[in-house]
Amino acid sequence: MHYRRLGRSGLKVSEISLGAWVTMGSQIDEKLSSDLIHHAFENGVNFFDNADIYARGQAELVMGKAIQDLPREELVISSKVFWPTMDGPNGRGLSRKHITESVEQTLKRLEVDYLDLYFCHRFDPDTPVEEVVFTMNTLIQQGKILYWGTSEWRASQIAEAYGIARQYNLIPPTMEQPQYHMFHRRRVESELAPIAESFGIGLTTWSPLASGLLTGKYNEGIPVGSRASMDSMAWIKESITQERIAKVVQLKVIADELGITNAQLAIAWLLRRKEVSSVITGATKLAQLKDNLAAREAVANLDDPILEKIEKILQNDPLNHD
Ligand SMILES: NC(=O)c1ccc[n+]([C@@H]2O[C@H](COP(=O)([O-])OP(=O)(O)OC[C@H]3O[C@@H](n4cnc5c(N)ncnc54)[C@H](OP(=O)(O)O)[C@@H]3O)[C@@H](O)[C@H]2O)c1
Repeated sequence: MHYRRLGRSGLKVSEISLGAWVTMGSQIDEKLSSDLIHHAFENGVNFFDNADIYARGQAELVMGKAIQDLPREELVISSKVFWPTMDGPNGRGLSRKHITESVEQTLKRLEVDYLDLYFCHRFDPDTPVEEVVFTMNTLIQQGKILYWGTSEWRASQIAEAYGIARQYNLIPPTMEQPQYHMFHRRRVESELAPIAESFGIGLTTWSPLASGLLTGKYNEGIPVGSRASMDSMAWIKESITQERIAKVVQLKVIADELGITNAQLAIAWLLRRKEVSSVITGATKLAQLKDNLAAREAVANLDDPILEKIEKILQNDPLNHD
């Protein structure tokens, strides 16, 4: 495993990390979640991603149990706040009240004294950015979180938070968590890359395999038990188009040429960007995790001619917007 600095901070995160969305606390059981976390850790993964909303808190509970026998100082544990997790008008968003209450519950569920990373899961138009920056700074001063960041914020919103932090001598955001994969790239490459560079923000990117589509598993239809077969995830079927499947088939020719899997090609392709501090993966099976972790080895194979071939395949994706 290789480690990258989280932006310009001193924190080092594994280039490939493991997240809990859809899987832990819902799709897979506690034992498998724990096995995945332990296998990942034994193979160098130090960053484990979570959120208060995942499986309504169950994902944090399951991860919390699983990490109890791992050395806390070697782990980078994250969570997020924004989506509704409590009753009433204040049970959501980024108000000082909701952030303060949500982080307490997250710490309890994860059975940790502090979070390494804490993300504002979306921008909250109902809360002044000043209130968010001051609240995050307070949590850092209280030792409840170590670094704070954003997820799916526009570059202008991150710039506003950064400016406020500088104006009041507070700690600015260190990371942004955007969706980034071969079929969803414009926002990272055109909008976030420049700001990541100038503010020293690290990107921890999500859905590297487009929820599995880039592995080729949907080429012949929707396999039973796969994410797209879940009633609650029916919406991802819209992203599984014939045009994209045709591209995945073409990508397989390149992967075969390199002696790697489609998943490894897709993850290695993300790691070519220096703004990416960590690619957050997800898995429902140990074999998937092993496949994805091996992507690290494939990065060196992505020379310019290969990247150009990939570029030709990816161009003109009508759904590729931000
Ligand atoms: N900040 C945000 O708003 C946000 C949003 C989404 C996710 N995230 C984070 O990013 C993490 C990863 O996102 P993601 O789960 O969408 O990642 P992904 O890699 O795009 O999809 C993971 C899913 O694809 C399938 N899969 C994974 N590896 C495979 C392989 N090698 N071969 C075949 N199938 C494979 C599995 O689903 P099946 O086996 O069920 O088909 C797995 O659960 C999440 O856990 C979460 O921590 C953050």
